[in-house]
Amino acid sequence: MSASVDWDAVFAATPRRSYVPAVVWRSDDARIDRDVDPEAWAEVVAADIPLVTQVDDGMPGGSLIPTSSASQPSLVRLMLEQLDVDPDHEILEIGTGTGWSTALLATALTAGRVTSVEVDPLVAIQAQESLRAADSRPTLIVGDGLRGYQEGAPYDRLIAAMAVRNVPYAWVEQVRPGGVILTPWGTAFHNSGLLRLVVAGDGTASGRFVGNVNFMWARSQRPRFEARRFVGDVIADPNAGRIRHTTTDPRPLQEEHADFAIGLRLPDVEQRTFFGSGARAGEFTTWYVDGESWAAVDYVPDARVFEVNEGGPRDLWREIEAAYQAWRARGEPPREQHGVTVTGDGQWTWHAGPRGRVDRAASAR
Ligand SMILES: C[S@@+](CC[C@H](N)C(=O)[O-])C[C@H]1O[C@@H](n2cnc3c(N)ncnc32)[C@H](O)[C@@H]1O
Repeated sequence: MSASVDWDAVFAATPRRSYVPAVVWRSDDARIDRDVDPEAWAEVVAADIPLVTQVDDGMPGGSLIPTSSASQPSLVRLMLEQLDVDPDHEILEIGTGTGWSTALLATALTAGRVTSVEVDPLVAIQAQESLRAADSRPTLIVGDGLRGYQEGAPYDRLIAAMAVRNVPYAWVEQVRPGGVILTPWGTAFHNSGLLRLVVAGDGTASGRFVGNVNFMWARSQRPRFEARRFVGDVIADPNAGRIRHTTTDPRPLQEEHADFAIGLRLPDVEQRTFFGSGARAGEFTTWYVDGESWAAVDYVPDARVFEVNEGGPRDLWREIEAAYQAWRARGEPPREQHGVTVTGDGQWTWHAGPRGRVDRAASAR
C-alpha cells in the first residue's frame, strides 16, 4: 500500500460527478438522463455502483451491451491502493473511460505524469472535455491500449480498466523492472481476477490475483456470448445434440473459486446460465460453448441425475467435470492462491507459485 499518497484527499478533490456524462444506464438497463431527472442522476452518481456510460460501442439500435462505464468508486479506490503509487511515478492507464480514474491519478501525482489510452474516440473526447473543465492535464491517447504506449515508456506503473485474457507482452516491455502491472484478468469461462504483476529484470512479469473484479473486456478480446443475448445467436442448432445424464450436481461447479479454477484449464470455453421462471422456477440451464462444440446441463431442484445435451467433437461437460475434480484434488484453493507469469513467449497460470503450473486441458485451444 502506498504511504505517500493521501487517497482520501485525492478523492475529495476529484469528484466523480465532474466526469460522469449526462446519460447513464444502471445495471438493470434503466436509462437515466440528467436533463430529464437530475435528482435520479445525482443519486446514482453518488452511489457506490458502476454506471454504464456507453452501450453497443456507441451505435444506435443495439441490444444495450455495455461498452464503457464509470467504474464502481470502491473498486477504483481498491485498485489505486493496490497500484502502490508514488507522487513522482510515470503511470500508464489503459481504458480512460470517463476520465475519472485518470483524474484521480493526475491529482495524486505531484511530480510524475499520467498517460491514458482509450480505444473509443468519442469516449476519449468526452473524457478530455471533462478533464479540461476540471483543469486536469494528463496525456490522453486514442488507440489500442493492448499495445501500451511506447512513446512514454518506461513506466513505473501500468493500470488497466478493462479485462484481458492475455496480458500483452508490450505492457511488460514498457514497465521498468520492479514496476507493477495491475489489470483485471479473466478467461472466457470466468472473468473475476484482479491480477498484480511485478516486472523482473529478465523481461518477465509475475504475480498473484489480489481481488475479485468484473470489468468489461478489452475490445478485441470480447468472448462470443459477450455481445449476444441468446443461445441461438451463438450456437447454430442447439436442438441437434447428443443426450446423456450426469450425477454431478452443476451448482458447486459454479461457486466462484471453483468456476475460476475450471476456467484456468478451459480458458477457451464460455458459459451462460439461463434461469427458469413460472413452472420452471428454481431450475436453470447452463450452456458451455467453444465456438464448435457445446454442452448444456439442466439443473432441476431435488434431482439426483441431470440431463446433459452436447454437440460437436469435444465432450465439453466431461472436460468441465475433470477440471472441477482437478481443482478439488489440489485442495480447492481460492483464486488468490493463483497467479500468472508473462514472458515474451506468452503467459501461463499457476497455483502457489510459478512452478505450480496449471496446465490447460489438452483439447483447449
Ligand atoms: C470500465 S471502462 C473504464 C472506466 C474508467 N476507469 C472510469 O471509471 O471512467 C473501460 C474502458 O476501456 C476501453 N477499452 C476497451 N478496450 C480497450 C483497448 N483495447 N484499449 C484502450 N481502451 C480500451 C473502453 O472503451 C472503456 O471506455
